[in-house]
Amino acid sequence: MRPGFLGCIQFDSSKERIMAAEKKDIDWGSLGFAYQPTDYSYVCNYKDGAWEEGGLTTDHTITLSECAGIFHYCQEVFEGLKAYTTKDGDIVCFRPDLNAARMADSARRIVMPPFPEDKFIEAVKMVVKANEAWVPPFGSGATLYVRPLMIATGEVIGVAPADEYQFRILVTPVGPYYSGGVKPVAVKVPEYDRAAPHGTGAIKAGLNYAMSLYPSVQAHAEGFADNMYLDPQTHTYVEESGGANFLFVDKDGTLVVPKSATDSILPSITRRSLVYVAENMLGMKVVERQVKFEEVASGAFVECGMCGTAAVISPVGKVVNGDEEITFGEGGMEHVGPVMQKLRVTLTGIQDGEIEGPEGWVVKIC
Ligand SMILES: Cc1ncc(COP(=O)(O)O)c(C=O)c1O
Repeated sequence: MRPGFLGCIQFDSSKERIMAAEKKDIDWGSLGFAYQPTDYSYVCNYKDGAWEEGGLTTDHTITLSECAGIFHYCQEVFEGLKAYTTKDGDIVCFRPDLNAARMADSARRIVMPPFPEDKFIEAVKMVVKANEAWVPPFGSGATLYVRPLMIATGEVIGVAPADEYQFRILVTPVGPYYSGGVKPVAVKVPEYDRAAPHGTGAIKAGLNYAMSLYPSVQAHAEGFADNMYLDPQTHTYVEESGGANFLFVDKDGTLVVPKSATDSILPSITRRSLVYVAENMLGMKVVERQVKFEEVASGAFVECGMCGTAAVISPVGKVVNGDEEITFGEGGMEHVGPVMQKLRVTLTGIQDGEIEGPEGWVVKIC
């Protein structure tokens, strides 16, 4: 067995559970969004055409050949979800099956072996349970961020997929996205694209994020929270931001969800959940269609938001496109619109176990 590799740790006996549950001495409320190693990560290697058993490790580093595929042809995919404590004291995560499926889709698109979806869920449970002491308590607003990733570890020199891979999950406690209350943000339309038409924009691969770093740093330097990317083929339709999908509300109260004609929007799990909540729990009309930026500029929408795991919904108060400034509804940069507020409160209520959501959305870990 490799040093630091612990195989499968089970916290089944009540004594171990109590020991594991003793929380770390952390000021949960003042945590930011930064990495700190916890007690365990999960690791599983792929070799000779098969995934090994996999298990926990205390080694948070990776040593690789300089010729590993990840360093040359960027075969890397990842996911992001959170584990958190509900009011009842359960440690849960939200729809990990969708992260498992999306990661498998991402892997297939860049010729990596998909990590088995049931094994993914087991691995998430195993690593969160082992790091129970790092899961922030209910009410702190903080969560344990869970980051599954997969890299090509096999050596390749000619352009080709590698034949060996490593799947890992690291977890790290992170602070509340909004510590001082939810506030509308401003976004800009950048001069750059985050994805190519029919490229890899719809998968969660690190290469897409490398592409969005330059425009993202620029947007932040100019005081914007993020970019509103338009479709990379015609620059006519709204696609998504660097780390979230957009949602709009029109004057009739319909939730309008941008659709990509070039398959370059990441299918956000939060967005799919909000669409379900809007249609089936809040009785709203939802339309998923291509959204012309022209419509946004003409004032067709009274609310706009960005949705993703971290913030659930970030209300967007203003979009800037060159000299053009568009504000939404009466709230603008001052108030969160009522629809975004209702959607946000309902989904966070489901996540926290205060509102009953569809079966299987909130998955108990321990
Ligand atoms: C580019 C991009 N779009 C959308 C999202 C939101 O997806 P999810 O709701 O699954 O977190 C993310 C975050 O993962 C993202 O990186």
